[in-house]
Amino acid sequence: MLTVQQVSKRFGSFSALEDINLEFTNGVYGLLAPNGAGKTTLIKMLVTLLFPSEGEILYNGENIIKADERYREQLGYLPQQFGYYKHYSPHKYLLYIAALKGMRAADAKPRIAELLKLVALEDVMDKKMRKFSGGMIQRVGIAQAMLNDPRILILDEPTAGLDPKERVRFRNMLAQLARNRIVILSTHIVSDVESIADEIIMIKDKRVLHKSPIQGICSQLEGMVFETTIDYEAADEFRGKYLSISERQEQGRLKFRFIGSGEPQPNWIPTSPNLEDVFIYIYQDEAKADETA
Ligand SMILES: Nc1ncnc2c1ncn2[C@@H]1O[C@H](COP(=O)(O)OP(=O)(O)OP(=O)(O)O)[C@@H](O)[C@H]1O
Ligand SMILES: [Mg+2]
Repeated sequence: MLTVQQVSKRFGSFSALEDINLEFTNGVYGLLAPNGAGKTTLIKMLVTLLFPSEGEILYNGENIIKADERYREQLGYLPQQFGYYKHYSPHKYLLYIAALKGMRAADAKPRIAELLKLVALEDVMDKKMRKFSGGMIQRVGIAQAMLNDPRILILDEPTAGLDPKERVRFRNMLAQLARNRIVILSTHIVSDVESIADEIIMIKDKRVLHKSPIQGICSQLEGMVFETTIDYEAADEFRGKYLSISERQEQGRLKFRFIGSGEPQPNWIPTSPNLEDVFIYIYQDEAKADETA
């Protein structure tokens, strides 16, 4: 079990995270928050690239900084900015990383063959990565993070830059990887974690706002999400009054999905809340700040 205990992180006088408490057991955790919320900061502390200003992180009861190498042996990590070598092939690159990790060649070779198959790069294993798509590069990144068959796999924005097809492939792959380990991935895109995460962690105002299964998170908006159709002329007033989640044209009018308030109107159709609704609801102030910035 990985435990984050009362962790705060400051950069000089700037406070990035405050009093973070988390527990991870086997399963997939989606760290879901907008840009700048502190996802990478938290992840870098989990992989010992940054140290908490206060509090500590324990793995099976032992401080991870003290456990040092013993902890890092259990860890696989894909950084947000993943540095690879364009003129290397995936095969050569993985051999190189395995050597850096101190793996014996005799162990590394069969493991690399297995991983190239797992991430579906067998056919291009000897091709230089220069011409690879974003999705292919990400899969090389995941393979390198999996070299040591880690108990804890941490992926910082693994789907950034992927097209929709590659995202689907990534999600399916992750479901396979998630057996018998802790998988933590960060993203600011709801659909990346909606179908695969056992628990969602949301950070707001430097603190953990939610850590629970999706259902639990969505239940807070139960009875508050509606759909209705509005004439174009009335749309601005409607947007000013209610929080719009999405809008689309329908037969010359606008169909809104929105968070209602006050007494529900007869033409509002109650709708089950989903994670996207909660995300927009929770971070609505930040979205407004972005628009005016
Ligand atoms: N080394 C640093 N020195 C000073 N401030 C930092 C440092 N690293 C991060 N920050 C600040 O801490 C906050 C959180 O940054 P962080 O990179 O953890 O966010 P994030 O959630 O990963 O964002 P993104 O989605 O853009 O990757 C930001 O305000 C950032 O500017
Ligand atoms: Mg980040």
